[in-house]
Amino acid sequence: SKLNMFVDDLPLIPTIPAFHVSDGVPKSKSLEIGMFMKKWKFHRDLPPTRVYAFGRSEQEATVPGPTIEALYGVDTYVTWQNQLPPKHILPWDPTIPTAITKRTRGIPTVVHLHGGTHEPESDGNANAWFTAKFEEKGPTWSKKTYHYPNNQQPGNLWYHDHAMGLTRVNLLAGLLGAYIIRHPAIEDPLGLPRGDQFDRPLIVFDRSFRTDGSIFMNSTGNNPSIHPQWQPEYFGDAIIVNGKAWPRLTVRRRKYRFRIINASNARFFRFFFTNGLRFTHVASDSAYIPNPVTANQTLVGPSEITDIIVDFSQSRSNVAILANDAPYPYPSGDPVNEANGKVMKFIILPYQEPDTSRIPKRLLEYPAPDLSSVARTRYVAMYEYVSDIDEPTHLYLNGKPFDAAVTETPKEGSTEVWHVINLTEDNHPLHIHLGLLKVLDQTELVKLDEFKECMTKINDAVKCHVEQYARGKKVDVPAHEKGWKNVYKMIPGYVTKIAVRFSYIHTNSSYEFDATAEPGYVYHCHVLDHEDNAMMRPLKVIK
Ligand code: C2O
Ligand code: CU
Repeated sequence: SKLNMFVDDLPLIPTIPAFHVSDGVPKSKSLEIGMFMKKWKFHRDLPPTRVYAFGRSEQEATVPGPTIEALYGVDTYVTWQNQLPPKHILPWDPTIPTAITKRTRGIPTVVHLHGGTHEPESDGNANAWFTAKFEEKGPTWSKKTYHYPNNQQPGNLWYHDHAMGLTRVNLLAGLLGAYIIRHPAIEDPLGLPRGDQFDRPLIVFDRSFRTDGSIFMNSTGNNPSIHPQWQPEYFGDAIIVNGKAWPRLTVRRRKYRFRIINASNARFFRFFFTNGLRFTHVASDSAYIPNPVTANQTLVGPSEITDIIVDFSQSRSNVAILANDAPYPYPSGDPVNEANGKVMKFIILPYQEPDTSRIPKRLLEYPAPDLSSVARTRYVAMYEYVSDIDEPTHLYLNGKPFDAAVTETPKEGSTEVWHVINLTEDNHPLHIHLGLLKVLDQTELVKLDEFKECMTKINDAVKCHVEQYARGKKVDVPAHEKGWKNVYKMIPGYVTKIAVRFSYIHTNSSYEFDATAEPGYVYHCHVLDHEDNAMMRPLKVIK
């Protein structure tokens, strides 16, 4: 049966301060946050759903997890506790590289703070997983308590599971939440809407449910003789915002700030308002942009974050539906339908309101990458492999599995230029841990078949003369995506040039590096079904 839309109120996600204040001075804090199995009500008319949820206790745990509120320059320590019972609530696949082996008794999980600048031991390496009570640990596990120094630019991060081969199912089950770093001294003067009524995260993802309320994920793969369960993309028909399917929110005629996180496995959203209401971008994933950018729509790939101001005093109607028209898979899959083309409803109160918040002409500006001192140029090619029934079997970066020896070893503090060559038919959001990136340009590859043939044979972009093929159409990077980001959408058949800056970090890890033996960073496609099989590579940042 069909679920009615807009019948549940948008939940206010609980927050956890990641610092405490003593004598008026903020001090660092140690948190214990657990992962629990519990029931969650996604919709008024849907029976409760078994989920995995983050929280300080089982009772408090929510989907999405509590929003962690950190303060610039104040350290946060988190002991992530796995409290999950042994049997996974969703199907998974033993034929892709995965943490679960015949001997594993618990559910492996590990938490990554996406967008954070921190030591590799606290990064949530895919092989640093652990099961309940830390009884079993992955080969790169090194400590229980993670350290987040929060000494980076203020902005929007999120935390989520990152366990080897299980990220797509652990996030589907609910292991994700927002993390905000605030820097009041430089943010408050901007005058943007503030407070938990007017400044809210919107964590959006798609799910399908069975009539008994359970999450539906296909247990049979597209290629069952090769991968009994793995499917190249998970798509659900219900659109969930802050844990409710197609919720509604009553708003005043004034400005609101929404920090929108696309926490879907594979779905891109192109958000717009059905009544023509526009919005103004102020920040992206983990950093502000220099100047506000007003637009009618915004395309947000999996794991991307867009931070927008909506001024409801400009609305001509008293109802505005936030909608989505991005095909799935993006860009050349199915068009949206009645269900997944709607996101949530805003009911706008009729009377005008005083509003002291504002959108300043200038936000926060960070230095541009220094392209005269680029330490290294790298080529990253994206490949999809298909079986004889023409169904994908796996996807690789640079033709290499995750556990092949590390090839990307940037120096801390350096800037590199990466040419990301997308030889597949889909758009892939590439996310780089620790790094901040700026998109330089996106250029179509001409004579793509010829170039692909060479790449398939020798897997070397330089020897295949990529520069001779990268001379087609250029696609403009939208103004609101020209700032520093940590993930970007790689257009199929294009070369995307990015400048990547690797932060300084302090680490005791030795120079010798083996992705399966030592924690380190990673970079990967953030379509979780791709990341799991195995569009992910190790990244070793050296001194
Ligand atoms: Cu949001 Cu490596 O992940
Ligand atoms: Cu991908």
